[in-house]
Amino acid sequence: MKKESTFTPWEVKGEINYEKLIKDFGTSQIDEKIKKKIQKLHPLLSRGIYFSHRDFDKWLDAYASGKKISVLTGRGPSEKMHLGHLVPFLVAKSLQDEFKCDVFIPISDDEKFYVKENLTYENAIKFGEENILDIIALGFKPGKTFIFQDFIYTDIYKYAARIAKRMTYSTAKATFGLKPENNIGWSFYPAMQAAHILFPQFEKGKHMTVVPVGIDQDPFIRLTRDIAEHKDFNFMKPAALHAKFIPSLYGETKMSSSDSENSVIYLSDSPAEVKNKINKYAFSGGKATIEEHRKYGGDTNVDVAFQYLRIFFEPDDKKLAQIEKDYKSGKLLTGELKKILIDKINNFLAEHKKRKEQAKKDLNKFLYKR
Ligand code: TRP
Repeated sequence: MKKESTFTPWEVKGEINYEKLIKDFGTSQIDEKIKKKIQKLHPLLSRGIYFSHRDFDKWLDAYASGKKISVLTGRGPSEKMHLGHLVPFLVAKSLQDEFKCDVFIPISDDEKFYVKENLTYENAIKFGEENILDIIALGFKPGKTFIFQDFIYTDIYKYAARIAKRMTYSTAKATFGLKPENNIGWSFYPAMQAAHILFPQFEKGKHMTVVPVGIDQDPFIRLTRDIAEHKDFNFMKPAALHAKFIPSLYGETKMSSSDSENSVIYLSDSPAEVKNKINKYAFSGGKATIEEHRKYGGDTNVDVAFQYLRIFFEPDDKKLAQIEKDYKSGKLLTGELKKILIDKINNFLAEHKKRKEQAKKDLNKFLYKR
């Protein structure tokens, strides 16, 4: 990583070297053996966007030997959701479908309230409620999916307190790069997220949980693994699956609305907005003129429209390979490639909208109650 780069759960800036992160964090690469077992799952897993893990092999073994397993991933509700936010949830759903397991989804409205200077308490709760509907709309199974918001399901506090007692301030400070001017909410919050990660074990007894997350969240996993086996808890160390970042429309490392509303696709964008954003802003790997493009072809490695098809919207490997071939050869033009993506996204969002309406009715089936 370059000197100017920042890498914490709350801020990611600059070039990212994923290989180096595996080394620095001491995680494991997702190897061929694991790849074989996740080949048929979501493209995010089968196409390598999830690139690193901790003990995921053990989680798979636990499943294979008939032991209880679960999946947990969370959301910090600082705003309405965009495509990039879906990454861990699409994977959680894919794991639920394949392994028929429970999924737990904590919503850290408190976290975002602490770290976002301008986010009010009321709005943190509101974004949380709104985001929950988007998450349910992805198709999670009622009765096997448990969602809660920290500010609403305040029972979580008793677990956070027991964990906080076993975490020192200096560990939190070093792990998260806490600064003297940060409010003390920042220093307590890691106990809360550790409570989320151990929640399935607190509530349902000792078992393996896997946590799909962006690699920037690994510090939380590490802290939690360090205390899971403490005699106060006697839990299993949670497993993790780590994702790379999804590029913004502009082609920057991480899709984030803090740069510009035009660099992300919101789940609430209208068909016209999607069309306009992709056509106008999606970074293209095509050539400057049609003649040049026909002659030299486009670069699928940097083309954002192609990347989104690969990551989310074209699960069929054969179709994707054809698109890649046609684009590289110059047969497929940038506008045509973008049109494929625009239609795919708009179909997805139209369906999502309907499912979100239904989610309002089903909400109670998903909110965690003891
Ligand atoms: N901190 C995460 C984020 O900002 C959200 C989150 C809350 C989470 N609790 C979690 C992620 C537990 C994984 C596990 O995106």
